[in-house]
Amino acid sequence: MAAPIHHLDLPRLKGRVLPSFQTLATTLEQLTIAPPDWSNPAASSGSPEHDPGITHWLTMLVSSDLHWLETDEERDEILAEASKRLAERCGRSAAPAMTRTFSLPTPSRTPTPIGTPVETPYTELRIHEPPLTSDNLGLKTWGTSFLLAKRLPLLFPPPTTTRTSDSEPPRKIRALELGAGTGLVGLAAASTLGWSVHLTDLPEIVTNLQKNIDLNEETIHAANGHATSGILDWTIPDLTHPSLRDLDIVLASDCLYASCHPALVAHVTSLTLPRNADAKFVVSVPVRPGGLGELPGMLWSELKGVGLVILEEGEDLGWDDWGSGEIRCRWGVWGWKEVHAKN
Ligand SMILES: C[S@@+](CC[C@H](N)C(=O)[O-])C[C@H]1O[C@@H](n2cnc3c(N)ncnc32)[C@H](O)[C@@H]1O
Repeated sequence: MAAPIHHLDLPRLKGRVLPSFQTLATTLEQLTIAPPDWSNPAASSGSPEHDPGITHWLTMLVSSDLHWLETDEERDEILAEASKRLAERCGRSAAPAMTRTFSLPTPSRTPTPIGTPVETPYTELRIHEPPLTSDNLGLKTWGTSFLLAKRLPLLFPPPTTTRTSDSEPPRKIRALELGAGTGLVGLAAASTLGWSVHLTDLPEIVTNLQKNIDLNEETIHAANGHATSGILDWTIPDLTHPSLRDLDIVLASDCLYASCHPALVAHVTSLTLPRNADAKFVVSVPVRPGGLGELPGMLWSELKGVGLVILEEGEDLGWDDWGSGEIRCRWGVWGWKEVHAKN
């Protein structure tokens, strides 16, 4: 990796000798800030990339007419790149489009001979995040989804097929993801567990969701998984899509940020989760400060209200792009009370 650039080493934008197009383009490339890495948060914080001298130089560059460059195309390119570098330094809300890579531990589905050292392989998923517009929260990947993606193989260790009867061949687990956003959880289930997952969200989110399925198609295929996307609005749930039939699992990550969400999520879950002993609702939600902190408890009550019972629950700690970065998430695995009578 190249050494971080110091503001005193930046090309001077005043004087007799002004930097060429190539010098500016190379410098701007060196100033790119990579998206935060939640697997190694220490590497993303307090770096010299947040040097105010660099921000000052970028501001000078975008306000310059760049008269010494040869063509308008060169001027446009430098302005566009300098604006992106500035936006990267204005916090996650203002950040330009980015494609992040997430590394997920992947349980082997091939038995290992006794005595062979077991190394955990990793699956890399590429997730595109467009610039955040209006309140489209699903255009960003939330820290909870990385935690839930890593928890899934612990909750559902291999083999990941269900046998419907002795005579029938095992079939792939079928899952639905509610409020999938950029799709990390559903894509993790398809590519690390080999599930068939239908990832859903609001109409304005689904185009990018499908883009992320396409970006990871080879990885999903290599795991013998399957992923599709579609609209499923909790306020007007249309349950006619064939991928919503015969589900085994319903997934949801960070699906609560308004007081109406707990009831809506519980209602859609009750409509889509089949009433059998294998059916599970797997959810993880961050415990946020202030009034939003009540939402996980409200969801837990609503889920009980529709007839579900908690089978397993716990907390995970992780990272997100905001504030101090640290997050605490409450996760739960739910089944129907009528078939888990002992609870
Ligand atoms: C905070 S984001 C979490 C996205 C993703 N699950 C993650 O953890 O990265 C909440 C998601 O819920 C979706 N959502 C909100 N209201 C919804 C509704 N009425 N129907 C379906 N999805 C909804 C949003 O579009 C958004 O994608």
